[in-house]
Amino acid sequence: MESGQFITLEGGEGLGKSTNLHFIKSFLENQGLSVVVTREPGGTPLAEQIRSLLLEERAEAVADKTELLLMFSARAQHLKEVIHPALAQGQWVISDRFTDATYAYQGGGRQMEVSLIQQLETWVQGLFRPDLTFLLDAPISVSMQRVKERLNNDRFEQEQLPFFERVREAYLVQARNHPDRIQVINANQSLELVQQDMVAHLLPLLQK
Ligand code: TMP
Repeated sequence: MESGQFITLEGGEGLGKSTNLHFIKSFLENQGLSVVVTREPGGTPLAEQIRSLLLEERAEAVADKTELLLMFSARAQHLKEVIHPALAQGQWVISDRFTDATYAYQGGGRQMEVSLIQQLETWVQGLFRPDLTFLLDAPISVSMQRVKERLNNDRFEQEQLPFFERVREAYLVQARNHPDRIQVINANQSLELVQQDMVAHLLPLLQK
């Protein structure tokens, strides 16, 4: 029986996921909880190797099915080695991205069949889903500007505007389909307000 809570952070590139991840970690630790911070794709040595395969620029085009299966391969490893054991020990787990990102990037961005993603999700996770997901949302112009300021863009960050528009829309569709789990946070407001919104959604989880 798992007793910790599983929180995921989602959203486009450059919307402050890392900053907010650390904010949530400190907030929960201040409540006396033991917190594991992790990320996808990645989170274990093997899954981090899969991450490198996925994000590195390469001459060979990566087939959509290859990309999708690698995402779920990394996830299977991450669940077995990190997420499930930590939750079972009563730790809280915060992951920088999880399966909603697959719906957004492979489903929306790459326009792959959603039913395929649903089948893999069920196969790899069974009924396991995050307890709470924050979706940091802002107009694409905001995230694109911040990504452009970075020096080394990965394979995904090099995609063009319509790809990111589809990613954003698919994330919002996920949020509409799972309103109890996914909280959409306006990332185009001050950090202080973003974090106030997050705390408002974390407090009920603490009472569980
Ligand atoms: P990030 O560390 O900037 O979040 O980079 C991870 C990249 O991987 C990001 O561009 C989104 C992408 N991604 C997918 O395409 N599908 C997934 O399932 C996950 C977890 C990430």
